[in-house]
Amino acid sequence: MLAACFTKTDCPEVVCSMADFVRLEYDIDGENFTSAGEASVKVKRSLRQMGFDPETIRKVSVSMYEGEINMVIHADGGKATVDIYDDRIVIVLADRGPGIPDIDLAMQAGYSTAPDNIRSLGFGAGMGLPNMAKYTDEMKIESEVGVGTTVTMVVKV
Ligand SMILES: Nc1ncnc2c1ncn2[C@@H]1O[C@H](COP(=O)(O)OP(=O)(O)OP(=O)(O)O)[C@@H](O)[C@H]1O
Ligand SMILES: [Mg+2]
Repeated sequence: MLAACFTKTDCPEVVCSMADFVRLEYDIDGENFTSAGEASVKVKRSLRQMGFDPETIRKVSVSMYEGEINMVIHADGGKATVDIYDDRIVIVLADRGPGIPDIDLAMQAGYSTAPDNIRSLGFGAGMGLPNMAKYTDEMKIESEVGVGTTVTMVVKV
């Protein structure tokens, strides 16, 4: 049984039920295009130091990079939280941007609302969300127009 499944309710002797995971947090700056993608690079480095296999690291860094860029381009930045367990990595990207009115449409390959100036930088192919779904084992998008978007992705190790 994983230590995280073992809470104080299960056993009063448990002092910290989070002993088996590491949490990394990043503020994603929506103004700064040159630093876009930095958080996923830092996560990649940490996962390497922790000894994860290259395939797992690739899945996490590709999916997190796409999500991070989406927060910069479409939502003026946000916050990334990465919880690293032995058997899975959970990435949560939360923003207070405009929200996604039609998630099924946004998930379609090729769909993009990126403006021309963003497209001229090489973004806007409408492939970010489909790739995030492809490279992760679970992906959930919660979004409310005018409130923001939270994307949760799980990569199993
Ligand atoms: N965090 C977000 N907030 C608001 N809208 C978003 C967010 N993420 C994605 N979207 C919407 O979903 C669309 C599709 O996203 P996706 O990442 O697939 O493509 P893209 O970002 O437009 O282009 P690409 O990722 O290929 O550079 C976006 O164009 C945008 O309309
Ligand atoms: Mg994108």
